[in-house]
Amino acid sequence: MKLRGNWSYPTLVKFGAGRISELATHVKAAGLKKPLLVTDKALATLPITARALDLLEEGGLGRAMFSEVDPNPNEMNMEAGLKVYRAGGHDGVVCFGGGSALDLGKMIALMADQPVSVWELEDVGDWWTRANPATIAPIVAVPTTAGTGSEVGRAGVLTNSATHRKKIIFHPKLLPAVTICDPELTVGMPRFITAGTGMDAFAHCLEAYCSPFYHPMSQGIALEGMRLVLENLPRVYITADDIEARSHMMAAAAMGAVAFQKGLGAIHSLSHPIGAVYNTHHGTTNAVVMPMVLDFNRAAIEARIVWAAAYLGIDGGFDGFRARVMDLRAELNIPANLTALGVDPARLDELTEMALEDPSCDGNPVKMMAENTRALFGTCM
Ligand SMILES: NC(=O)c1ccc[n+]([C@@H]2O[C@H](COP(=O)([O-])OP(=O)(O)OC[C@H]3O[C@@H](n4cnc5c(N)ncnc54)[C@H](O)[C@@H]3O)[C@@H](O)[C@H]2O)c1
Ligand SMILES: [Fe+2]
Repeated sequence: MKLRGNWSYPTLVKFGAGRISELATHVKAAGLKKPLLVTDKALATLPITARALDLLEEGGLGRAMFSEVDPNPNEMNMEAGLKVYRAGGHDGVVCFGGGSALDLGKMIALMADQPVSVWELEDVGDWWTRANPATIAPIVAVPTTAGTGSEVGRAGVLTNSATHRKKIIFHPKLLPAVTICDPELTVGMPRFITAGTGMDAFAHCLEAYCSPFYHPMSQGIALEGMRLVLENLPRVYITADDIEARSHMMAAAAMGAVAFQKGLGAIHSLSHPIGAVYNTHHGTTNAVVMPMVLDFNRAAIEARIVWAAAYLGIDGGFDGFRARVMDLRAELNIPANLTALGVDPARLDELTEMALEDPSCDGNPVKMMAENTRALFGTCM
């Protein structure tokens, strides 16, 4: 089967190995004449990024780049990018990279000319209506990791460097106009990033699948997304240039982001404060807390996980599923617990407070409260 396609859901997705060659065509079709390519510091030095700039230049679109983007990017990265964007007279953003670069690029497109601060556009109720939609610049997304699914999402995650809070910033116009999903771009990821990002995709599918809200469409996508990760993540971890498996991982990442419209849960509400305080890799952090969160939610999700296990060809119902997650973590050399990730036990009360503020809590099948969440953190150490 040729793992290639032009999808129109949830946005225009040009999927397939080698399709980065079409970059200029799609950037122009999105209406851009003078795009700013936004990537991160490490990616800025890699040949895949030079190639993307070459393609833009050959297409008559210039080769402007902003790359002062940190992992878990913050508002200072955004302000620096906005300066470059405005000074260059750009008319849109090509977001090129992992979730950090994609999200920061989205923030630049969003905040180019807004009457409100970015924090006033947090994903709370209908706060997004505070933004002036007319000045949000078009976004073209090119993911180079297979995890966050930000390339098909309408949100960006921004860390507030003053309060150490990760905030989800939402606007419907943050959905990229077009996304190029070229699995060849993901081949050069460091191994632990391949593992962590893949586990982020799995966490999105798993949490969406378990969240109690009614959204059968997402439910189905989440289940198939989990299957793709279980079958392909160990493959790409062993063989970096397995393009077939890389393709399935890239699809699974996009599916995870579509699925989590149904909701996320405790994995993400624990992981967000840890990432904000300790600057740990997001997906890796999710993978660390995943089995403990499964146990925490067991009473509420057991029946549902038994169905999933049956679909996924896993024997033993809930216990079998949990064991499969543990095996996957071991295959990917995921740290065993938060202690191994460097979390200080003295800060668990503070992390608990931050976790309870995270909007992902709302989608957790067991209600998260101070006492049970503090206890959950304890089991993760
Ligand atoms: N918008 C969303 O819906 C959403 C969802 C989940 C997570 N996130 C956010 O995304 C961020 C994490 O993104 P991520 O997991 O993709 O990691 P990342 O973007 O932080 O990248 C991790 C590292 O991998 C490097 N890298 C990326 N692609 C590479 C490649 N092809 N070759 C070599 N190196 C490469 C980067 O330079 C970086 O050093 C976090 O801030 C997280 O909160 C956003
Ligand atoms: Fe995530």
